[in-house]
Amino acid sequence: AVDISKLLGSTGYITLDEGYVNTGATTSAITFLDGEKGILRYRGYPIEELAAKCTFIEVAYLLIYGELPTQAKLDHFRDTLSRHTMLHEDMSLFYNGFPRDAHPMAILGSVVGAMSTFYQDSLDPHDPEQVDASIVRLVAKLPTIAAFAYKKSVGQPQMYPQNSLDYCANFLRMMFAVPSENYEVDQDFVDALNLLLIVHADHEQNCSTSTVRMVGSSNANLFASISAGISALWGPLHGGANEACVQMLEQIRRDGSNVKKYVDMAKDKNNNFRLMGFGHRVYKNFDPRATIIKAACHRILKKQAIKDPIFDIALELEQVALNDPYFIERKLYPNVDFYSGVVYRAIGIPEQMFTVLFAIGRLPGWIAHWVEMHANPAKKICRPRQVYTGPTERPIPAIADR
Ligand code: ACO
Repeated sequence: AVDISKLLGSTGYITLDEGYVNTGATTSAITFLDGEKGILRYRGYPIEELAAKCTFIEVAYLLIYGELPTQAKLDHFRDTLSRHTMLHEDMSLFYNGFPRDAHPMAILGSVVGAMSTFYQDSLDPHDPEQVDASIVRLVAKLPTIAAFAYKKSVGQPQMYPQNSLDYCANFLRMMFAVPSENYEVDQDFVDALNLLLIVHADHEQNCSTSTVRMVGSSNANLFASISAGISALWGPLHGGANEACVQMLEQIRRDGSNVKKYVDMAKDKNNNFRLMGFGHRVYKNFDPRATIIKAACHRILKKQAIKDPIFDIALELEQVALNDPYFIERKLYPNVDFYSGVVYRAIGIPEQMFTVLFAIGRLPGWIAHWVEMHANPAKKICRPRQVYTGPTERPIPAIADR
């Protein structure tokens, strides 16, 4: 309980809103979200339409530059990106220094942070040309950085980008090809990856995007701001939930597929267990992204004739939870992370890489918010207030009396 009189600071009343449940931090023209109705639009375009008609790179362009690209602009953007996919050779040496079992999100955040040491010519947040150079470098190189992190974990040589391939195909090749064998990129996997990246591309003022804005508000460069966003995304209550969700489904399978037992555990207030992939701060009806991914999940498993017991458990869990008063009363529905892990598994992506894929998808959103913040003439450094609850003034006792 907070003593209401303490909300009066020296400059007037302070709003106390733990976790910013109901506090707007900014105006924004990027993403519209109606949590009650389950609506999500990027720059006015419904997520369902973007998922059906666009590639991830078109959506990235839309988020960052504000409009869908013409064919000429798209060709130019793709061409520019493809010329920046390589990492500086000294940067690829970093990977020798990381332990083999390092989490790829830790590697991703570190290498992106280090980009500000390699690209010192694009650090000024107030120079549009430098900002554009850092945007291109980030979007182009993040899949390479991510794939190299995976190659490190499996002890395989890094596969350099092949720029004739499109963004998602190139990433899959860097992940799964080995120099000694031919590798054919599967178009079903490319399509599924495009879809997953699109539905993750922005989600207004979520934890990682707010972090990117917060760090960027001090005029820290774009690489440093995005590296902070990657750290925020890693947590299991945010982007890390897709990895945690598949681990939970695996655990249920190993434990005899007793779905009801886990639903009961999640309802028990005496333990901290939560159903991963359920609930959302903003969506209190359904998560439109989960609907899109669930359909894609059905499609890819059927088309590839994959029988995954995890998917059957997920379907059963969804049904049991959706009919349970605990979940109904609290408006807890499957979120985007509930099915994304099953699709990643079908593509062959290992669990530790799930959140890394989320980061690649969310990158254009982070960039768009960082750019929007800097374009705002009323921009201020983010500096929340607090309500102090510590001791009142007291004298320092002599060390012998403490
Ligand atoms: N399982 C069981 N109970 C839950 C769950 C869950 N997954 N989520 C929320 N609840 C319960 C809480 O215990 C609480 O119950 P109470 O009112 O009896 O105390 C009530 O629902 C409200 O939950 P809060 O934690 O207050 O909701 P909040 O908006 O702060 O949290 C969050 C949202 C973090 C997503 C939460 O639902 C959660 O932990 N979900 C599991 C993790 C997850 O899937 N995260 C991914 C989010 S989507 C994304 O980042 C892409």
